[in-house]
Amino acid sequence: MAYSKKLNFIFRLPTKVIFGAGTAKEAGIETEALKGTRALIVTDRDLVKTDLVKIVQNALGAKCVGVFSDVTPDTGIHIINAGAEYGRKLRADILISVGGGSAIDTAKGIAICLTKGGRLEDHAGFNILDGPITPHIVIPTTAGTGSEVTYAAVIKDHEQKRKLLFADNYLIPNVAILDPNMTIGLPKGITAGTGMDALSHCVEAIHSMQSEPIADALALHGIRMIREFLPRAVENGGDIIARGQMLIAACIAGAAFSNAQVGIVHALAHCVGARFGVPHGIANSILLPHCIMYNLDACPEKYSQIAEAMGKDIRGLELLKAAEQAAVAIWEFAKAIGMPQTLREMNVEESGLEECANDALMDGSIVYNPKPVFDPNEILKVYKNAF
Ligand SMILES: [Fe+2]
Repeated sequence: MAYSKKLNFIFRLPTKVIFGAGTAKEAGIETEALKGTRALIVTDRDLVKTDLVKIVQNALGAKCVGVFSDVTPDTGIHIINAGAEYGRKLRADILISVGGGSAIDTAKGIAICLTKGGRLEDHAGFNILDGPITPHIVIPTTAGTGSEVTYAAVIKDHEQKRKLLFADNYLIPNVAILDPNMTIGLPKGITAGTGMDALSHCVEAIHSMQSEPIADALALHGIRMIREFLPRAVENGGDIIARGQMLIAACIAGAAFSNAQVGIVHALAHCVGARFGVPHGIANSILLPHCIMYNLDACPEKYSQIAEAMGKDIRGLELLKAAEQAAVAIWEFAKAIGMPQTLREMNVEESGLEECANDALMDGSIVYNPKPVFDPNEILKVYKNAF
């Protein structure tokens, strides 16, 4: 078996992870442990109307000084600047994000601005922070993004129709509270889409040029968990065991890719997300098998391991055929849980794919793809296959 045999690597997982039904109520204790006295909740417009935010507000008691609820799907620079302004006014000294990837990444951006001052645009880039930023507790309400343990934030520049990647170890949240009660009400489509995002994180961590054995172990187990529990969570949203296992799977997938990085799947998904508004999980889900086929001969041993983790019997198959089974298994899996199969279904215009291909070459994720990509025409072919 072709396990990653890195001669040198660093693995980082500084986030304290708390798991269990009802643990959202521990937000107050964790705030205190981080010496937070003025907590700002960061959430979205829909969640703020639900009990989920109230549970966290109650847990924080007098320590909660405000709720910033202007987060939208695909959060943007302007939203973060408005949140930072609000946080400054309230003299917030700790952030509690309640939501999916967009709310979590918004809080990461606000934390940068609260600590460093100025606007988010002033701090774009990789590893530009020189010390800890405003403490951040994450309570995810989806099981997919993994952002509760990652060093990255993806923020949309709505004017330029681009997604900006912020990456810094100081962006890694302090605490992740994984409470399955917080994901119980998630609709089928979002459950499936966010779960496929987590599956993409696992595959990308394994095929990444920066893969290493600890991330491999997390990602391979993440795949097995998602295979077993995502269909259950989609089928019956009230299945608390499946919801909990999916939260853990998404979290370990996040820990894996935060260390090993992602590749072509995310690069291509970011660009159709930015130009055509395809939700991140759906874009990944559609592109994932096509990207595996594109990369197939670069790391067939890895894909055959993924095929096995997806439940395929690859005994007796020659290596490339075994590897191909990873793409087949993911196609079948995505279809079975009701995911869209083509970009066309998501209102992507074929004429816009060339621009997307050019954008994808500039995306930070593509650097770690196992097969080096320099030619936009190669990317265009993958897009067209997925179209
Ligand atoms: Fe992702």
